[in-house]
Amino acid sequence: MFRQWLHDTLTRLYPGHLFDVLVPPGAAMGDYSTNIAFVVAKAAKVNPRQLAQEVCDALMREGAEMLARCEVAGPGFVNVFLKDEYLQGQLGVVGVPAIGQGKRVIVEYSSPNIAKPMHIGHLRSTIIGDALANVYAALGYDVVRWNFIGDWGTQFGKLIAAYKRWKDDAALQAHPINEMLRLYVKFHDEMKEHSELEREGQEEFRKLEEGDAENREIWKRFRELSMGEFNRMYDRLAVRLQAATVKGESDYEADLKSLIERLVAQGLATESEGALIVDLSAEGLAPALLRKSDGATLYLTRDLASLEDRIEKQNPAKILYVVANQQALHFEQLFAVKDKLRLGSTETVHVKFGMVLGEDGKKLATREGKVIALEEVLDEVTKRAAAVVKEKNAELADDDVKRIASTVAVGALKYNDLRQHPYSDIVFDWDAMLDLGGNSGPYLQYTYARLSGILRNAGDAKAIAGPALLLLTHPTERALLRHLLDFGHAVAQCAHLYALNGLALYLYELAELANRYYEQVRINDDDNAERKRARLALVSAVAGRLKDGLALLGIEVLERI
Ligand code: ARG
Repeated sequence: MFRQWLHDTLTRLYPGHLFDVLVPPGAAMGDYSTNIAFVVAKAAKVNPRQLAQEVCDALMREGAEMLARCEVAGPGFVNVFLKDEYLQGQLGVVGVPAIGQGKRVIVEYSSPNIAKPMHIGHLRSTIIGDALANVYAALGYDVVRWNFIGDWGTQFGKLIAAYKRWKDDAALQAHPINEMLRLYVKFHDEMKEHSELEREGQEEFRKLEEGDAENREIWKRFRELSMGEFNRMYDRLAVRLQAATVKGESDYEADLKSLIERLVAQGLATESEGALIVDLSAEGLAPALLRKSDGATLYLTRDLASLEDRIEKQNPAKILYVVANQQALHFEQLFAVKDKLRLGSTETVHVKFGMVLGEDGKKLATREGKVIALEEVLDEVTKRAAAVVKEKNAELADDDVKRIASTVAVGALKYNDLRQHPYSDIVFDWDAMLDLGGNSGPYLQYTYARLSGILRNAGDAKAIAGPALLLLTHPTERALLRHLLDFGHAVAQCAHLYALNGLALYLYELAELANRYYEQVRINDDDNAERKRARLALVSAVAGRLKDGLALLGIEVLERI
């Protein structure tokens, strides 16, 4: 990877300086540019232009086989220009650096709550987390996908009480989540009139906690039915959570007592108005509440037990929690308590993300102001995708439309999310999301289908590598070759920044260049047979990189749209 070489060489020549390597906006400014001369000259109090010339001389000496020339520009930029032969020779090199070799990373994502529908917030976690896990795996990390199910808390006492009063097992079997939601809502409605229900719920939860066989059985059934629904969503979304480590908050119930005792023994947890807290004032945070005055443990307590378990059993270099912005304080507290407990060197990161907004810029919700269920979103986008696919191919059989539409729909949803930085709120604009001519998932899938059509039409004319690649001299060919060179960097940056938008942009630019190429250059009807095969080799490399890059984003390609 040239970019890595450039970075490493400059670091070796001028150790201890922080500098940038960029791709300049125009070809006249070279293939890569660096500001290193400013940084070093400032420290050494010399003229940056003079230093830039030294940098160029050194690079030309060390990188003679790759570099055509190196120029000093403006007050001291260093612009390097690659040899065409070097670029041509790199065509088959994918260049994703194996920086994760020997390191384990746990990526926790999705983490829905049982007995409730997965909602649009879980959609973002699921999409972003799955893509990050893919990227880490591509970089050679040993990735453990982790799903932390919300399956514990006093609300399950209420649900059990409601079930015992008003159960409808047929409905529960047919539409499990709807039925659980109905029971829960009914319980709350009835509670307004019959306040004694509150106690009943508490009592059922107490029995559940104490291991009462009937309540355990009911709760287990709720959990299994919910997991079945979640897995159905994961299938539709083509994410790899079915093979994840699935742990529930309930799995840590048994560890809480000893965890709390240890925290007390170490003087970290203290009583405050009957509750047990960890004081975090030195960290500038509100106290972490471990146990309420009524003895109930909390989300944070269970998260702490789970964190300890993850570190002890998996010994990961890193744990990523892909969870909405709203939970920022929770994770700051969790990580602060972890530091106090000295749980080792595992790095913990909260990968935060923003809300989903409707086209009106307001938080996306149902007409009654409720959160939107994930399944509704999936149904809507699939219906719209089917219309787009039908319009493109009127002659397509219904089954094919269905199959293609579901891949297009999921690609549209994922790309719409990942092309933006996770922190940002994202807008659900169905038309833009599905626009075959815009910066959308379907546009990238369409570009891939076009490229694979070219390769199909080429028939026997096998793509080749080797000397014929020297025939790739058209400016759009050079631009494509040059862009291909940065694939590995784009992938590595995603892991570095915990964001996929850089890779999405990279792929969009690759698709734009590919479409320009296709419009400007004859490929299958090139009259020079050698060059035709070199061009096919380029098309094949571009298609391959598009496919690989989209796969990292969790987006499948299609041979035709
Ligand atoms: N179940 C929670 C929710 O739906 C998210 C859990 C996030 N992960 C964690 N380790 N706390 O809001």
